[in-house]
Amino acid sequence: MTIIVETKNLTRSYGSTVALNSLNLQIPQGAVYGFIGPNGAGKTTTMRILTTLLLPTSGEAWVDGYSVVGDRAAVRRSVGFMPDFFGVYDAMKSWEYLDFFAASYHVPAARRPTLITDLLSLVDLTHKRDADVMGLSRGMKQRLSLARTMIHDPALLILDEPASGLDPRARVELRELLKELRSMGKTIMISSHILTELAEMCTHIGIIERGTLLASGDVATIMQSLQPHRVFVVHLLSDVARAAELVRGAPHVLDVRLRPEAVPPQIEIDVDGDDRAVGELLTRLIQGGAVVTHFAGQVSDLEDIFMRVTQGSDYGGTN
Ligand SMILES: Nc1ncnc2c1ncn2[C@@H]1O[C@H](COP(=O)(O)OP(=O)(O)O)[C@@H](O)[C@H]1O
Ligand SMILES: [Mg+2]
Repeated sequence: MTIIVETKNLTRSYGSTVALNSLNLQIPQGAVYGFIGPNGAGKTTTMRILTTLLLPTSGEAWVDGYSVVGDRAAVRRSVGFMPDFFGVYDAMKSWEYLDFFAASYHVPAARRPTLITDLLSLVDLTHKRDADVMGLSRGMKQRLSLARTMIHDPALLILDEPASGLDPRARVELRELLKELRSMGKTIMISSHILTELAEMCTHIGIIERGTLLASGDVATIMQSLQPHRVFVVHLLSDVARAAELVRGAPHVLDVRLRPEAVPPQIEIDVDGDDRAVGELLTRLIQGGAVVTHFAGQVSDLEDIFMRVTQGSDYGGTN
């Protein structure tokens, strides 16, 4: 597994504010790494350091093996950055915008027309080629901005809150686009303060709060390490209290909760055992006369985990 981003005790202070406190994270090549945390957590600070726009106060970071402190030009060739604001570009057409950035990345003039046509097509803006960029919708601006990050064909894309302010349709389009970029072999680091924006598209996540990384790794491992037990939901046509008694106190059962008001009535069982232990619970219920219509492990999603590990506080910051 090739590591494309690595930080070691990465720290950044603004005066007396410690925005980033000894961050250690790794992003493998090909990952879609969701960097999640409330406003002011330190996401933008991290991304600005990884794109060489900001120097760390202490610690180190490498992108594609190049130091963000000592080898800035090489880092810039390896990474495309989409900041959390679009900027103001007066009287500039979509193609001119891309041409401008292509030129600043020293893409030879002869190659630019094809490149721009391809990128506009990739982000589905071919029909807006001659449109004034400031007149584009927010979703279109985001897509154009994404095309810009691809202009020098970097291995890594760092996208700072690209979904923020998008309507649901534009979000779906963005998600589809990211899928496509991933299939092109790009590694993507993407931030959000809203976990559900990212949940389905990430292979890896990092959860950051107040400058501290609370968890980082592939989604399955994080879910496992943060979930001490599994929850099974049982739908019943028979008495719920009686069913609860049948499993309460059984091996590996941590807790049983009644949901008599649910339709159909249900119980929830917290289990810390393996699948065999779970199977035995179902046997117990049925042998005890419970009429079970549904017995399934609850899929605890990233949202639950996020709520569990963060304190959910929003303490200002620059978004
Ligand atoms: N230029 C700056 N000057 C002073 N404080 C800053 C500056 N940029 C960010 N901060 C502070 O650093 C912390 C992290 O900010 P930021 O990285 O923007 O968080 P996020 O992107 O997760 O919202 C916040 O407390 C914020 O107020
Ligand atoms: Mg930010």
